[in-house]
Amino acid sequence: MNTAIGIFDSGAGGLSVLHVLRRELPDEKLIYVADQAHVPYGLRQLEEVRTFSVGITRFLLSQPVKLIIVACNTASAAALHYLRDQFPAIPFVGMEPAVKPAAEYTRTGAVGVLATPATFQGELYSSVVERFANHVKVYQDTCPGLVERIEAGDLRGTSTTAILKRAIDPMLDKGIDTIVLGCTHYPFVIPQIQHIAGPGVRVIDPAPAIARQTRRVLRVKNLLANGEDLPGVRFYTSGDQQRFQKLKGLLLGEKGVVDNVCWDAGVLKPC
Ligand code: DGL
Repeated sequence: MNTAIGIFDSGAGGLSVLHVLRRELPDEKLIYVADQAHVPYGLRQLEEVRTFSVGITRFLLSQPVKLIIVACNTASAAALHYLRDQFPAIPFVGMEPAVKPAAEYTRTGAVGVLATPATFQGELYSSVVERFANHVKVYQDTCPGLVERIEAGDLRGTSTTAILKRAIDPMLDKGIDTIVLGCTHYPFVIPQIQHIAGPGVRVIDPAPAIARQTRRVLRVKNLLANGEDLPGVRFYTSGDQQRFQKLKGLLLGEKGVVDNVCWDAGVLKPC
């Protein structure tokens, strides 16, 4: 039986989703894939990210899994529709920048969105802004270098702070009272973002909404874990196994085994 939930990201960002998911759905078995051979996704062409997403989906299906969370805004922008189309038998839950709750919440009528260049280029982003935020001002920043800093485990260093300040200070000058985290890496620097933005600015982490949506989909499809299997997580990276293990320890505060997967002519498989 397909008992696990598959989750993937370009790297460690999706761990911010996994962390909440484990709290909200503690009985579920999870399989996490970090495509660190290709991180960052945000500077790549959407077509390329779509190809990686298909390869990872095929790998997860071979495990097998009952649902896949595309825990990466960039991969969701590049591939979510395509994946649903190509793999109709499997439910997908994807990320979309939380512009809707931000537009509902803002009192100043100005919100900031932090995401990768590829996410901003995707149709998904323009469609959420058009549908839900045409009455508010939306300020965007791609935070160049931030994903790399987080992948390096540098959450509080001077360059991480400088990247965030460069992005957020001009938004504060425009009067924003809400910041949307449109990249799953960024929740790991929420304390720094909140420190720069001040207590009057709400920072929206999409992970709780993704966990709720996952529960909804599993319930509707009658796929929620029924206690027959032991819950737990298997981690895979296409990058350096030990580096990911260390990073996971830093971000989630836990150790645990990480296995290696390798890309071979567009196919992701055990090394
Ligand atoms: N964590 C990803 C996202 O949500 C990808 C960041 C990257 O690899 O550039 O967009």
